Amino acid sequence: MTHMVLEEKQSLEERCNQILKNMEASLTARDRVGIQDFVLLDPYTSESAFLENLRKRFHENLIYTYIGTLLVSVNPYKDLDNYSKKQMDTYMGVNFFELPPHIYALADNVFRTMQSEFNNHFILISGESGAGKTEASKKVLQFYAVSCPSTRLLNNVRDRLLLSNPVLEAFGNAKTLKNDNSSRFGKYMDIQFDHQGGAVGGHILSYLLEKSRVVHQNHGERNFHIFYQLVEGGEEDLLRWLGLERNCQHYSYLVQGDCAKVSSINDKSDWRTVRKALSVIEFSEKDIEHLFGIIASVLHLGNIKFEPDARGYASLNKNQELHWVSKLLGIPSQVLQQGLTHRKIEAKTEEVFSPFSVDHAIYARDALAKAIYGRTFNWLVNKVNESLANKDSSRKTVIGLLDIYGFEVFNVNSFEQLCINYCNEKLQQLFIQLTLKSEQEEYEMEGIEWEPVPYFNNKIICDLVEEKHRGIISLLDEECLRPGEATDLTFLEKMEEKIGGHPHFVTHKLADQKTRKTLDRGDFRLLHYAGEVTYCVVGFLDKNNDLLYRNGKEVMQQSKNVIIKHCFPSTEPDNKRRPETVVTQFKSSLVGLTETLKSKEPWYIRCIKPNEAKQPGRFDDVLVRHQVKYLGLMEHLRVRRAGFAYRRKYDIFLQRYKPLCPDTWPNWKGTAAEGVRCLIKHLGYKPDEYKMGRTKIFIRHPRTLFATEDAFQVCKHKLATRIQAKYKGYRVKGDFMKQREAATKIENCWRGMMARKEREKRAWAVKVIKKFIKGFITRNQPACVENSEYLAYVRQNYLTRLRDNLPKTVLEMRSWLTPPPIMQEVSKLLKKIYIRHMVGKYVHGITTQRKAQLLLKAQTSSMFKGKKENYPFSVCRPFQDTRISVEDINIKVLQMIRHEHIKYSVPVVKYDRNGFRPRLRQLIFTQDAAYLVEEAKIKQRIDYSSLKGVSVSNLSDNFLILHVTCDDIKQKGDLVLQCDYLFEALTKLSVVADKLKCIKVVQGSVRFDIQPGREGFVDFKNGQESMVYRAKNGHLMVESTRTKSR
Ligand SMILES: Nc1ncnc2c1ncn2[C@@H]1O[C@H](COP(=O)(O)OP(=O)(O)O)[C@@H](O)[C@H]1O
Ligand SMILES: [Mg+2]
Repeated sequence: MTHMVLEEKQSLEERCNQILKNMEASLTARDRVGIQDFVLLDPYTSESAFLENLRKRFHENLIYTYIGTLLVSVNPYKDLDNYSKKQMDTYMGVNFFELPPHIYALADNVFRTMQSEFNNHFILISGESGAGKTEASKKVLQFYAVSCPSTRLLNNVRDRLLLSNPVLEAFGNAKTLKNDNSSRFGKYMDIQFDHQGGAVGGHILSYLLEKSRVVHQNHGERNFHIFYQLVEGGEEDLLRWLGLERNCQHYSYLVQGDCAKVSSINDKSDWRTVRKALSVIEFSEKDIEHLFGIIASVLHLGNIKFEPDARGYASLNKNQELHWVSKLLGIPSQVLQQGLTHRKIEAKTEEVFSPFSVDHAIYARDALAKAIYGRTFNWLVNKVNESLANKDSSRKTVIGLLDIYGFEVFNVNSFEQLCINYCNEKLQQLFIQLTLKSEQEEYEMEGIEWEPVPYFNNKIICDLVEEKHRGIISLLDEECLRPGEATDLTFLEKMEEKIGGHPHFVTHKLADQKTRKTLDRGDFRLLHYAGEVTYCVVGFLDKNNDLLYRNGKEVMQQSKNVIIKHCFPSTEPDNKRRPETVVTQFKSSLVGLTETLKSKEPWYIRCIKPNEAKQPGRFDDVLVRHQVKYLGLMEHLRVRRAGFAYRRKYDIFLQRYKPLCPDTWPNWKGTAAEGVRCLIKHLGYKPDEYKMGRTKIFIRHPRTLFATEDAFQVCKHKLATRIQAKYKGYRVKGDFMKQREAATKIENCWRGMMARKEREKRAWAVKVIKKFIKGFITRNQPACVENSEYLAYVRQNYLTRLRDNLPKTVLEMRSWLTPPPIMQEVSKLLKKIYIRHMVGKYVHGITTQRKAQLLLKAQTSSMFKGKKENYPFSVCRPFQDTRISVEDINIKVLQMIRHEHIKYSVPVVKYDRNGFRPRLRQLIFTQDAAYLVEEAKIKQRIDYSSLKGVSVSNLSDNFLILHVTCDDIKQKGDLVLQCDYLFEALTKLSVVADKLKCIKVVQGSVRFDIQPGREGFVDFKNGQESMVYRAKNGHLMVESTRTKSR
């Protein structure tokens, strides 16, 4: 947070510096063309310096200069190319002081202030006639038309706002000596904006049209533009229908000034603009027809000539003009004629028509023309207002544009000039009040240290004109209304009598010697704020009375022309009750205007006229100096210089800028003043940049405020983003919650489904297990429903298991899977089958040699299996054909027994029959006999026929005793032998000698014959270790270790 604040603070300062830099940059860049804001003028009290700056800039076509937020504009009298759309864009939304001064900058600033503060404003455009007020007001209007947000509907309003101008100018402007397009009426225009800044409507108030111009123009001046436009531009048909000729010289109302044609005015093209504008502002064809009927009638009226009849009264005979007026206004010509030549006098109960003199008739005609034109003008303004009116009742803010006739001094000044100049006095007074007086009073009220700036207060002149009972207006009204012979001169006398001593009033009679020379007898002079003006009293009373003879009015009431009908309603009060005089009406309308303006925020454009000749590039020092003076620009500058550009009530200021400081945002607890103090401390305002008043903060330079405002704009966006983010977050959270809810719901359903599945599975499992258990329990019962499945399972299970675990060889049959009870029988059968299968397989795969070998082994088995202890060890030792190869048998021996075929031979240990000495011998089996051989000697031959038997012990020794039949004493006895291949040798012997039956396994001891009649014994026993020795009893003792059975 502090970081952010620091950033903001920094950017505020940076912004401030940036603005300053920009200002300085543009200032230095344009140094030679002076300064853009008089506030920055160094000798700010010097009128010459002020003028110099204006002139410098003027010569560089820089017609705009600021005094703070007041815009000074010097009429260039030439088209400058700085009013393009691009220029408008440049100035849109840019701070006042960041770009060179421009009317667009002011307009934009007003608009944005209105937008942000949502209040009403007005732009007071002042300056003398021809200074550029009307142009300025048009520029402002155009700016709004382009810059405001637009929609189709708004575009409509915009077009009407824009096009109301040429229409009103055509009917209300005229060429004067001062200005070729001089506004001859005052105009105050409200532009209404909705809260989005769209221009949604408008309203125009018009003030005192200079009607006298309709019937009379001074030399070098023209009537209202519309007359010339119609005559010059009107279509042939239209002119024919109106009875007009395309020649201004034919109309006496158009030729008095002797300048119907002006080079700066193009009546033809203006006509087209007006015609188009009228249709856009929704004038119906009928309206237009009647409107131009009236304009034409005025021209015709002007041409009506009266002849004195025999008695000297005015007469009108077969007047062509009369005919046209009658046709165009829809009034019988008889009636019209009567109205123009007679006056109706009411004498008690009856009405008498008294004829006019020619002069009177002319007067009445002119009065009628003025009345018609004047009222039509008002109708026109109302009509425009109808078209601009916004019917929607929602609250709107307005920007008022006041473009009122400027201060005017002609050679001969009349009633109109008095009104115009009085109006200017009033506006000047308002300006003084709003800027100089009230400003200084405010400082005083707020307790701000202040050195008062003296200024000329024109109240004294305003009072001179408008004061009740004593003012010129009162005196004039008095003269107009009093019975008896009142004339312009009696009015003058009255003024001399009542206000003769006033310092701002002088007449021929009152003047000193020197001044008197400049005055005529019928003149009076006012020292206006803007200068001296000499008025000629001639016509004052008439113009003020604005009398239209009563039957003139009545004649008009008969008109068929809708506009005239509308303008002369039959309900209008007759002249029994006198209507308010012109000047009084004007005065009260000015009071109304001032009230309207006072309720709004003022902005000023002060227009200055550089020369009287309407020439571009000419800067008349004296003329300009005079305007600078009476416009109070110097005083304004001094107040601005010393004062504060901006002030706001603490609460309003705080309310707007509180987001800029963490302590004041979002709410400040203390007083608004403390809050503001805290806020500006945070923003880093320097002590000389502001002052704290009693109820308001005063900020000296606009740039400080602009920097603050810029920071606020940035901050506003940040805040908006934050709020937006919060809102989005809230929305997203909502969405998320919904999604989560949905997800939970789905999850719940899913889980439910899964749980149900699981439950089903479990239920199924329980059922299966139950069945299984039941099956298990009843497994031994005969097959029934309850155990059938279980048994099937057991069966299958056993069979598959058996399949996977079948013994690989017959020898492994012991690993045959133990069958469950019900499978015992099956198992047995299977085992048998399997064994047979295995055996078959084995047998099929066996070689003949191996078969022979195995047959021998089987023989061995049959002889010893289960009988001799060490037999099992022999099983795995394969038999060989012989243990002694033929080469190892002595050749002699071989020669002796070759014929008998040696079948087998094996090394043995022979134990002597006496003494039991062990001797290594070879034992050879032939077809017929067994031989004991020692090297080359056959030690003993035992014919198989004489072999009685063979004894072996049941223990694990390797002894064998061959028992022989011994008939002969010389014959050797039984043989006691030890042979490592005992079983092999014995088996071979049993086969070769076919002595299977005579091989005996004995226990304990074996008796043998040493020689016939002499016996010996071999005792067998198990001992600790294997050993052979002669026992004490003379027996051969063979001890063998007990072999563990496999
Ligand atoms: N900004 C301007 N640029 C160019 N010409 C201007 C400008 N302002 C005024 N003029 C010229 O001066 C004439 C008088 O201006 P206008 O606004 O009618 O004066 P005012 O209304 O003060 O009597 C215009 O007709 C125009 O020729
Ligand atoms: Mg004007």
